[in-house]
Amino acid sequence: KKSQAWSALFSEPMSELVKRYTASVNFDRRLWRADIQGSLAHAEMLAAQGVISADDHAAIQRGMAQITQEIESGQFEWKLELEDVHLNIEARLTQLVGDAGKRLHTGRSRNDQVATDVRLWLRDEIDVIAGLYTELQQALLDLAEKNVDAILPGFTHLQVAQPVSFGHHMLAYVEMFARDAERLADVRRRVNRLPLGAAALAGTSYPLDRERVARTLGMEGVCQNSLDAVSDRDFAIEFTAAASLAMVHVSRLSEELVLWMSQSFGFIDIADRFCTGSSIMPQKKNPDVPELARGKTGRVVGHLMGLITLMKGQPLAYNKDNQEDKEPLFDTVDTLKDTLRIFAEMVGGITVKREAMERAALRGYATATDLADYLVKKGLPFRDAHEVVAHAVKTAIQQGVDLSELPLATLQGFSPLVGEDVYEVLSLRGSLNARNILGGTAPEQVRAQIARHRARLAG
Ligand code: ARG
Repeated sequence: KKSQAWSALFSEPMSELVKRYTASVNFDRRLWRADIQGSLAHAEMLAAQGVISADDHAAIQRGMAQITQEIESGQFEWKLELEDVHLNIEARLTQLVGDAGKRLHTGRSRNDQVATDVRLWLRDEIDVIAGLYTELQQALLDLAEKNVDAILPGFTHLQVAQPVSFGHHMLAYVEMFARDAERLADVRRRVNRLPLGAAALAGTSYPLDRERVARTLGMEGVCQNSLDAVSDRDFAIEFTAAASLAMVHVSRLSEELVLWMSQSFGFIDIADRFCTGSSIMPQKKNPDVPELARGKTGRVVGHLMGLITLMKGQPLAYNKDNQEDKEPLFDTVDTLKDTLRIFAEMVGGITVKREAMERAALRGYATATDLADYLVKKGLPFRDAHEVVAHAVKTAIQQGVDLSELPLATLQGFSPLVGEDVYEVLSLRGSLNARNILGGTAPEQVRAQIARHRARLAG
């Protein structure tokens, strides 16, 4: 019984177990649209080069249009014994248009075909992700803009350090996400190159016009070495590395949201529609979305490890190992897209509790550096000022008050340089306004950065 394209050579049918072990159609059918797109570009070029007739080309176009319709409507019958998406579509094409279908594979191998499909698919997914990054950054900019004047304690070592604008804090993530988007745009350039024409591994004897196919598919160039073209998956590894870093950034934001929503912080609230309750504790509202995003980061980093290990030690050229590139790559794309989409929405559902944040900033002597800077401006060397303020903080701690609550006489006891104007310096707002330097937390700077980001995203 002849069921495989190569079975004339084989004297017994493939074992059922091996069939299931080697088949990829259950997951790679997801590439169907790219597969058809690649085939149509290949057929168009074959016709233009006189390798197949115009009639065959027309028949292939007709068949592929029908197959597209069948797959879209869910009528297409995917067959495990046809192994993968490529053989399933080609077999159906031949069923529909006869010999023209059999001519499609001229000068082509599944090795360059699959590499092309994955690249086309990934390129388009990167474009979707780019759009999601724009939305997420815009949502963060909106939240930042509403809260330029909201003050929270900035931390180092998770100890209260200096007051910062909540808007400024959000812009830190906008910077990270902008770089993530930029990295993906850079990866895209290397994804978007054409393997077709490499055939199985050595190129082909047919007069293919590879540049033409690349142009038709909107690719930026052709892979220049046939062995490399069919065998390397560095573009998928690179994408997953960029996605891992992107998820790591999301996980940092997630961690902060989870902390901030805890009763001990109480800095923010996240809209109910993004939270879940507890089946036992009636009072609970849990930030499941950021927690899950933090968890899913591990999953994407795991895929990076999987893919990079998959490639390690593979001899040239194509090896079946590479069929294992798809599931981790697909899951990476799905996870990143879902996460970005839900975050873009959730950010709009964050309520900032300004009073609680300010109270926390006042509890931690966040303006101690400002007092030191004040003394420096009055002529004290910074190291001496640092020492003086340490004494003042110690006294304030003992009295259970903020620096700004110490009487002028007490402050002057630490340094005669202290004057009435010190209280402006010791206020949270005074501290913020003082950091009016490019990249600093002064509201004026934060507003300028928001405008810059808005122009960047619009441009
Ligand atoms: N399903 C295969 C893959 O994902 C397609 C290429 C198979 N080529 C081959 N000669 N077996 O890599």
